[in-house]
Formats: sequence, structure tokens, C-alpha cells
Amino acid sequence: MNEASSPPATPAADAGHTWSGRFAEPVAQRVLRYTASVAFDRRLAYADILGSRAHARMLARQDILSAEDLAAIESGLATIRGEIERDEFVWRLEDEDVHLNIEKRLTALVGDAGKRLHTGRSRNDQVATDIRLWLRDAIDDIDARFADFQRALLDQAERHVDTAMPGHTHLQVAQPVTFGHHLLAYFEMSLRDRERLRECRRRTNRLPLGAAALAGTSFPIDREFVARELGFEGLCDNSLDAVSDRDFAIEFCAVAALAMMHLSRLAEELILWMNPRVGFIDLADRFCTGSSIMPQKKNPDVPELARGKTGRVYGHLMALLTLMKAQPLAYNKDNQEDKEPLFDCVDTLSDTLALFAEMVPGISVRADALRAALAQGHATATDLADYLVRRGLPFRDAHEAVARAVRAAEGSGTDLAALPLETLRAFSPLIEDDVFAVLTIEGSLAARAHRGGTAPLAVRAAIDRARARLAEFEPA
Ligand code: ARG
Repeated sequence: MNEASSPPATPAADAGHTWSGRFAEPVAQRVLRYTASVAFDRRLAYADILGSRAHARMLARQDILSAEDLAAIESGLATIRGEIERDEFVWRLEDEDVHLNIEKRLTALVGDAGKRLHTGRSRNDQVATDIRLWLRDAIDDIDARFADFQRALLDQAERHVDTAMPGHTHLQVAQPVTFGHHLLAYFEMSLRDRERLRECRRRTNRLPLGAAALAGTSFPIDREFVARELGFEGLCDNSLDAVSDRDFAIEFCAVAALAMMHLSRLAEELILWMNPRVGFIDLADRFCTGSSIMPQKKNPDVPELARGKTGRVYGHLMALLTLMKAQPLAYNKDNQEDKEPLFDCVDTLSDTLALFAEMVPGISVRADALRAALAQGHATATDLADYLVRRGLPFRDAHEAVARAVRAAEGSGTDLAALPLETLRAFSPLIEDDVFAVLTIEGSLAARAHRGGTAPLAVRAAIDRARARLAEFEPA
């Protein structure tokens, strides 16, 4: 699709606005620039052509338009589509927006038939239809990118079902988990994001055309036919609502904001993990950049930018909420401002997902560094407490006994798991030499084998379930 660049303004003398009949003087140049949207709404061109074709077909079926006019309109629209594809279409600022640019060109190509196309329609229901069509396609594209990202997560998780790493709370070592389990947490988040996306698609995929300017039209239109032609699942049932609300676009931005929030969390962890002082992972060079002054640097630019771009998506959500707030019914020109934030949310989420889908397979895990980190921080302290509970001690007393053992380990500069049996028994006589089975990392992991737990067996089962859920998503 063509990126928007400002079209040149031709002299005002030949401006001749589509609606200029009502006015005694041409619109001021500054006003023209202020009000025109063609520089950015050109992105809706294909949706606009599809919408116009469906509308024209309906008009002809209903005998509102002749068969000859329909043929002329269809061939003119096909020509225009070709011109846009070949980047030959001349976008004119004087023609304000994508709709009037295309209509003018159509009329230049096919004459009066082009002027009849707008029968029973307004730019208000036209633009609402265009955005919904465009967003529906964008959602499908993003959904596919989600699938790629999710597959990458599952493949990487599968490689690391039993790779132990420190799980953290408060960014301090808490308990052992597996790297696969950790990645599956992001899979779950992405699954909910994708569910939300599909919910949003359902509400987006409704036809506003027929609402005309705001009150409907006096022509005997067939809205169901237009909806079928365009693949809409239903109709907007109130004409005032159809032309004025942009809640579907706001909802998309909210979905995108949540998805970016999730991606920013993974981004932050990748940045932390590949920090040389942590060294848990390495990220393939192609996702990093060097420094122009410090030759030794390998910076995680892609995750850092993902973290940063999350901010602009939040901003767009806020912009659209504010745009819509307190707008009286029905259409107001304010709504022209809906496009740039929406487009940028789509672009940002789509690019970020595509990059993460490529980046996740490019993570190489340093299992020895993960294990070394686990040897500090008494990661199996909870396991010792659980052991004492199984021997009959109330959990609170077990917690207290282990806390004192941890203090002793700290005092002698060692890890709890490395204390000799005699030392441990000083904190509870219930401890016997089978304790070391639970103090090991493997023992700790294996013990958490219930659904949702981090045991390698549980993670493997979770991956199987995840793949089955992915398959359910397949037929979009
Ligand atoms: N460019 C306009 C928009 O994006 C199209 C609708 C114009 N309608 C109007 N009554 N001026 O909202």
C-alpha cells in the first residue's frame, strides 16, 4: 500500500470542490491544507474502491442505477485501482480526501456514471465502511503474525522444557522454574491478546453503508446485499450510530495497547537476560546494533525499541478516546482524526510481532549461567519448608525453621542446599538425609508436576495443550 506523502496543491483557480456550489468564494489555501486528509487516508483507497463497487452493484440490482452505468463504474474503478497499484494515480489536495479523489477520477474516466455513484450514499457512511474494511484486513494480518510469534515461543519452549533457571519475584531469585515454562507464560498472554483481537474483529465487521449522511436514504436500498458483497457479518442497526461511533477503532487500539504491554515485558526480560552481567541468553547479532563510539558494545535495540514503541500505542489509544469523548451525534469532522492513530497502532503492533517472531528463535540460552544463578539465592528454601510440612510440622513453623537455616547459610557465605546434614538438623530434627533430594534443582522442579506447574513433565503437557489451542485458531 502506498505510504502517504503530501500531494502537491495545484492552483486554487481549478480547485472546484465537489461541494463548492454552495459557496461564494474558494476555500482558503490554509484551510484546504488543514482540512484535507488525502495525505493519510489514501491508505483506504482499496477499501474505498471495494465499497463503491458493492454499493454500485446494489444500486443496479435495485434499479436505481442502469446496467450501463454499473458497467462503466466497475471498469472505471478497476482502472483506478491499477493506477494506484502502479503509483500513477495523481492525488490532489484540492479533492480533500481519498473518497473525492477517487470519485473525481472516476467521473473523468466514465463521465456521468461516476457522478451517479454517490446516489443514496454519503461520505459519512462511506468512510465508516472503508475504515472497518481496512481494519478487518489489518486484524487478519496481525492475527497471522500472532500465530508466527506463538509458534516461535512454543518451539523455543520445547527446546527448554527441562532447562532450569531462577524464577524471580521482586526481581530476586525466588524458586527454580524451567525456561520453557517461563516462555509459556508469554504464550498464555499472547493467546488472550489474540482472543481479544478476534472479538474486536467481530464487532468491527459490520456494515455502516446505508446510513448515508446520518438518517438513512430515501432510495430503496438493499443493505443485506452490500453486507454480503463485502463479507460483513451484519449491519449497523442505527444510522446515527453507524456514521458517528469509532468504538471499534478504539477497541482495536486497546487490544494493541495490551498486546504491546505484553511484548514490552518480554522485551525487558530479553534486555536484562542478555546484559553481560546477567548473561542468561544471547540474542542473534541481526537483532542488535553496535555503538558508534564503543567498539565492544552489542546493544539490544530491537527489544528496547519494542519497549519504547509501547508508549506511542498507549498514546494513540488515549488520543482516540479523547477524540470520541462527548461528541454529539452524529458525524463530526473530528472523526477524520481517527485514522493516523489507528494506522500507527496497526503498523507498530504488526512490525513488533513480526520482529519478535523472528527474534525468539534467535535466542540462545546459556544453561550453565542459569544454573550458576540458581546456586545463589537459596532457591529451594520453599522445598525444604514443604519437606518439613510433609513430616508433620505446621507450615508457619517450617517457614520459621528454614528462615533460620537460610540466615546461617548467609552467615557462612553458602547456599542453603550446600549446608551439611548436621547443620540442617540443628534447625529441625525432622530433617534426614533424604532431604537432599528435595533441595536439588531437579527435585524442586519435578515436584511441581500439576497442571500449570513448572515440572518438565507438566511443561511438556502444557506445550501439547498449547499446540492444540493454536490449531483451534487456525481457520480464521
Ligand atoms: N475525510 C472525512 C473523514 O475522514 C470523510 C467524511 C467527510 N464527511 C463530511 N461530512 N465532511 O471523516
